[in-house]
Amino acid sequence: MAKEIVLTGVTTTGTPHLGNYVGAIRPAIEASRQENTESYFFLADYHALIKCQDPERVQQSRLEIAATWLACGLDTNKATFYRQSDIPEIAELNWLLTCVTAKGLMNRAHAYKGAVDENLANDQDQDFGITMGLFCYPVLMAADILAFNAHKVPVGRDQIQHIEMARDIAGRFNHLFGQHFVLPEAVVGEEGSILKGLDGRKMSKSYNNTIPLFDTEKKLKKGVNKIKTNLLEPGEPKDPDDSIVFDIYKSFATAEQTEQMRQSFKDGIAWGEAKKELFTLINDQLSEPREKYLELMANPSHVEEILQAGAEKARARARSLISDLRNAVGLVNFK
Ligand code: TRP
Repeated sequence: MAKEIVLTGVTTTGTPHLGNYVGAIRPAIEASRQENTESYFFLADYHALIKCQDPERVQQSRLEIAATWLACGLDTNKATFYRQSDIPEIAELNWLLTCVTAKGLMNRAHAYKGAVDENLANDQDQDFGITMGLFCYPVLMAADILAFNAHKVPVGRDQIQHIEMARDIAGRFNHLFGQHFVLPEAVVGEEGSILKGLDGRKMSKSYNNTIPLFDTEKKLKKGVNKIKTNLLEPGEPKDPDDSIVFDIYKSFATAEQTEQMRQSFKDGIAWGEAKKELFTLINDQLSEPREKYLELMANPSHVEEILQAGAEKARARARSLISDLRNAVGLVNFK
């Protein structure tokens, strides 16, 4: 049976934090080990340019994210790991898809609509600060996915609409030019895959409530100590189901460890003690990959080699599809 193709991208504007690890990196790497799937993971660096015009930030983030995935155990012999900008076929497909995408569909994209609403709320022209990059973002994302005819696309909730748009665009192209594309499906992780941040909201760079994944041990400890708790004293029973500390603990613990911690909460564990245990649990799991991460960060040319090999693998695949598509739309060599 043909393998199921699973593909996902990470926009390269930030530094990976614990929430990215629990919500995306760890499950993706685990899934990539399954025999019946073929995984494509990429650094969405063209997407980064939409929101970030700071070249150093983009460059640094690309390296950090690549080093993170490799340090966390991604097997690049099995999964295909590459940078979007190393695959010119994606840019080419982006144009073929742009030409069949209704403008009205793009008008409905949440990210674009959100930007327009914000402008109107601020008494600005509705298009103020909106680039064609932002407006056409869902087409580029469709190109990422359709270039490899991915079946499943693991994403956060906020991205579901984009996958639906990719299906629409693929369907339109198929209707006009023949059956070339698989209609991709979004895969959204369970509730448990969303990690809470320092203040109890979803851990996210935009809320400024993150704990970095591979900073120093000291910074990790500092982060854990900053998690918000209530004023209950040591000895007073605490509600594990209403605690950010417990919530994060759960995401790293075995079922047995979780039950023990639940009991400790009921027995009135001191917040300082609970945080110490949380730190130890996370640090034990991260210290080995942290070392690998630091090694990779100190050796960017090694990361470069891995990504170049990934790009070669990815391009071989995309090239043959693009050549069919060029034929289909009428861009054929004269004979
Ligand atoms: N837009 C996605 C995000 O912000 C990242 C992304 C770009 C992506 N291209 C993709 C995800 C293709 C899945 C498939 O999270």
